[in-house]
Amino acid sequence: MYLGLDLGTSGLKGVVIDDKGNVLAQESVPLTVESLHATWSEQDPLSWWQACKDVINQLQQRLDLSKLKALGLSGQMHGATLIDTEGNVLRPCILWNDGRSQAQCEALMAQFPDLIERSGNLYMPGFTAPKIRWVQENEPEVFAKLAHVLLPKDYLVYRLTGVMSSDCSDAAGTLWLNPETRQWDDALLAATGLSQANMPKVYEGCDVVGTLSEAIAQELGLPQLPVVAGAGDNAAGAVGMGVTNPGQGFISLGTSGVYFTVSESHKANPQNTVHAFCHALPNRWHQMGVTLSAANSLAWFAKLVDKSVAELLDALEDSDIERTNVLFLPYLSGERTPHNDPLANGQFIGLTNTVNVEAMTLAILEGVAFSLLDCQNALDSAGSAVDELSLIGGGARSALWRQIISNVLNKRLIYRDGGDVGPGLGAARLALLGEQQSQGKNIESLIAEYCTMPYVLEVHEPVATFGSYYQDKYALYQSLYQSTKDLNE
Ligand code: XUL
Repeated sequence: MYLGLDLGTSGLKGVVIDDKGNVLAQESVPLTVESLHATWSEQDPLSWWQACKDVINQLQQRLDLSKLKALGLSGQMHGATLIDTEGNVLRPCILWNDGRSQAQCEALMAQFPDLIERSGNLYMPGFTAPKIRWVQENEPEVFAKLAHVLLPKDYLVYRLTGVMSSDCSDAAGTLWLNPETRQWDDALLAATGLSQANMPKVYEGCDVVGTLSEAIAQELGLPQLPVVAGAGDNAAGAVGMGVTNPGQGFISLGTSGVYFTVSESHKANPQNTVHAFCHALPNRWHQMGVTLSAANSLAWFAKLVDKSVAELLDALEDSDIERTNVLFLPYLSGERTPHNDPLANGQFIGLTNTVNVEAMTLAILEGVAFSLLDCQNALDSAGSAVDELSLIGGGARSALWRQIISNVLNKRLIYRDGGDVGPGLGAARLALLGEQQSQGKNIESLIAEYCTMPYVLEVHEPVATFGSYYQDKYALYQSLYQSTKDLNE
């Protein structure tokens, strides 16, 4: 039995698989985000640690966890968890969807023009490096005490094992890693006043980095398990969905929306705001387009109209609305692909006296689909087109939303078993690979055996009759951002 823990933005999930890789149980605990100012997004790392212990306790009620053989973590990427020399957290973690560091991104790119080439990525707010520059400039007393920077899931690995580590999929999202060598880059670190001494050792996602410390194992009632390096949530989702080889891809409908494709080498394409990072498995890389508010847009609207997301989706399905003049721009947290604009705003247009909640819900599903089409166009121009995509994340549970996305992208979309627990499943699979690898088994054979695509629950083919409806609306969607962006400054 293996345990995968996925530290998301809205909650922490635990997934247990058996020795063959089948899911035995899953549990989750909610997390909240603090936004002290517009564009800010923070979480207290101590709340992650509490959620981690709570999820393990919940799983203990359902399964005998003394049979666990290894543990792996996956987590929201890019968060800056700042640690002092004693291992204490210095301030709330600045999250992946925080837009405060735009000025620092611009200054870094102007001051060190070769940074983009070294990291293969544009400096965008939300990535880790510019946040450290922001702390240096705005909270010098915190920066003075900074001894280590950890990514969110790596903080949990540290609490569990006492070892500071990272994996190259998550580490690439800091912009301090050279994605080709898969190791830290001294020049990239120096640009933000750091050195290798501030950074943990980087591993492949399936490498064992340590074992549960005796005290923690006792507190949690677990054996002193080996813990693997794990992965950023998107690379972990790919491992969970068997998206491990070039030409394969998936879409994640979590708080963020991600369009992810695998490549055989590091294929940088910064000018199109494509993220070009390492995969969590050896000798593989990936590209992605990222929209910052996918399932979050629906959750935001549900809260506003005092309903649950499930109620909104049920009401839309029960209505006969298939088209609407309402148009939604999902830029509630700014946007990365394709605009790199932390100040972009969400918008509803086309409202009249007869517009109801169902039409507005449909407009949100369509608006997020259009933002994924922007990602698809960016990836296509970067040469990483794929024929079909799996779908993961909480939002992917909606068959209606899956079909709308298939229509808008004009792609076959496949919903597979385990799609709702993708990154947690991937983290558990990495734990399995790591434990088997340490018994001398060949990693490529293990990947072929265990990182398979889960069975198909539903296939969505694009429906041609909607073609011109979506084309016209997408053209309006694109022009609306262009014509209103000056209002945001
Ligand atoms: C990826 C990104 C998000 C977070 C969400 O670049 O910022 O997908 O990983 O958890």
